[in-house]
Amino acid sequence: NKQEKTYKIGFSQTGINDEWRKSMNQAMKIQAAFYPEIELKILEGQDDIDDQIKDIEALIAENVDILIVSPVQAAPITPIVERAFKKGIQVLIVDRKINGENYTAYLGADNYQVGTNAANYLASLSTESKRIIEIKGLLGSSPASERSSGFNNIITNTPNLNIVKRIQGNWESYSIKDSLSRVLDTNKNIDYIFAHNDRMALGAWEVLKEKGLEKSIKIVGVDGLNGPNGGIKHVQDQVFMATILYPTGGEEAIKLAVKILNGEKVAKRNILETTVIDSRNADILKNQFDKITQQQNDIEKQQDKIQLQEKIYFTQNNRLKILLGL
Ligand code: FRU
Repeated sequence: NKQEKTYKIGFSQTGINDEWRKSMNQAMKIQAAFYPEIELKILEGQDDIDDQIKDIEALIAENVDILIVSPVQAAPITPIVERAFKKGIQVLIVDRKINGENYTAYLGADNYQVGTNAANYLASLSTESKRIIEIKGLLGSSPASERSSGFNNIITNTPNLNIVKRIQGNWESYSIKDSLSRVLDTNKNIDYIFAHNDRMALGAWEVLKEKGLEKSIKIVGVDGLNGPNGGIKHVQDQVFMATILYPTGGEEAIKLAVKILNGEKVAKRNILETTVIDSRNADILKNQFDKITQQQNDIEKQQDKIQLQEKIYFTQNNRLKILLGL
């Protein structure tokens, strides 16, 4: 008999319009397939608050055993998550946070550290006076505020580094292009741009390129995805000077969810590693990540084969039962 699915994991994702989210979902699916007793349901989302609230309501109504949420923004998603938690549903928050403490556990890289890594990196480059533009992620989403405070905290204490402008983005490349263009027209001699993620960093580079400034202004992003349009490639191509690794944690999220479901005691804060990626380590990291991708592909192929075998087995078995009049 096919193994009963005893646990249902429901994941409310922010949206899947970018590679980072897609690769997170992918890693979750691969990991979940290792546990036959688990059913993983991902509601993909549309980077929209109302839509995410509906998704979470739907997962609550389905009686998931554990709810994983990556909240678009903290404040508006907090009440519905609290409702689930107070109903007795286990809650694992990933990447972006909610407000308060009404959840089982959090998993993600330390975004304050992401910001300090970026600032310390710039501080390590030179003791000369340097002018910086900070490009911020979506207002009200925790990685944006934490990356900003980490970054600003170091810069304030580094006399030769000055933030001359801050631009509010929404994580997407299009959101910052006009404002950056205007800022560059009125602020000369900019040295560095720190963008809270690689998509906005790439948007910034496109603006610099249009203005012929791409050689003189150096960009630092965040995410460091591997792949054809990822941050690691942009570092290798010298489009970015550096990017700060921000792992998706898809695999780790499922592992942690399974521990919680099995009644194991887990830490409330589960922190993933981050690091600076620049020209010195981009090749090595690419090789490492390529190997992981290769292994993931192999695993997926194996999992597909097993599924096919299972299907064949069940049809054969049913035929046999019919033949035997069972
Ligand atoms: C992906 C993303 C990343 C960023 C993260 C912050 O949707 O925008 O680029 O690092 O979300 O939560």
